[in-house]
Amino acid sequence: MTEQRGEAALRVVPGPMDINANGHIFGGWVLSQMDIAGGIMAARIAQGPVATVAIEGMKFISPILLGDVVSVYAREMRRGRTSLAIHIDVVATRGVAQTEVNVTSGVYTFVALDADHRPRPLPE
Ligand SMILES: CC(C)(COP(=O)(O)OP(=O)(O)OC[C@H]1O[C@@H](n2cnc3c(N)ncnc32)[C@H](O)[C@@H]1OP(=O)(O)O)[C@@H](O)C(=O)NCCC(=O)NCCS
Repeated sequence: MTEQRGEAALRVVPGPMDINANGHIFGGWVLSQMDIAGGIMAARIAQGPVATVAIEGMKFISPILLGDVVSVYAREMRRGRTSLAIHIDVVATRGVAQTEVNVTSGVYTFVALDADHRPRPLPE
């Protein structure tokens, strides 16, 4: 978790289908939510379609449990000619005490796409 949370890009509640044999939420489900949240921000900045080109090495710090509310925070980290990197933090809010648990953080890189699905320069 970084010292500075970005914008609250997504808030979602996982369901019973998202649970693995340990009773935790699947890591792949978490990666999908991060991709969706980062993609929303990237498409807004790119003013059009984007594709995920890379995900930097990530570590899962704590599990998400059924009943948790999952919040995904996103902030722009760097911008290139056609690509931009979004830093994403995932936080689970648990129980009546609303305890916040840091689940994972990662950097997703998105590329702006043109109509032929090729890289497109980002707008000024
Ligand atoms: C995104 C895609 C169009 C880029 O095509 P490409 O031929 O690699 O394009 P380029 O080499 O010109 O790179 C485009 C930009 O991506 C960046 N990039 C490419 N690979 C990267 C990587 N592994 N990590 C970080 N940035 C990367 C380049 O640095 C460049 O950024 P810049 O213009 O800001 O300098 C192509 O790789 C693709 O379609 N990938 C599949 C995307 C997809 O379907 N994602 C969903 C998951 S299946």
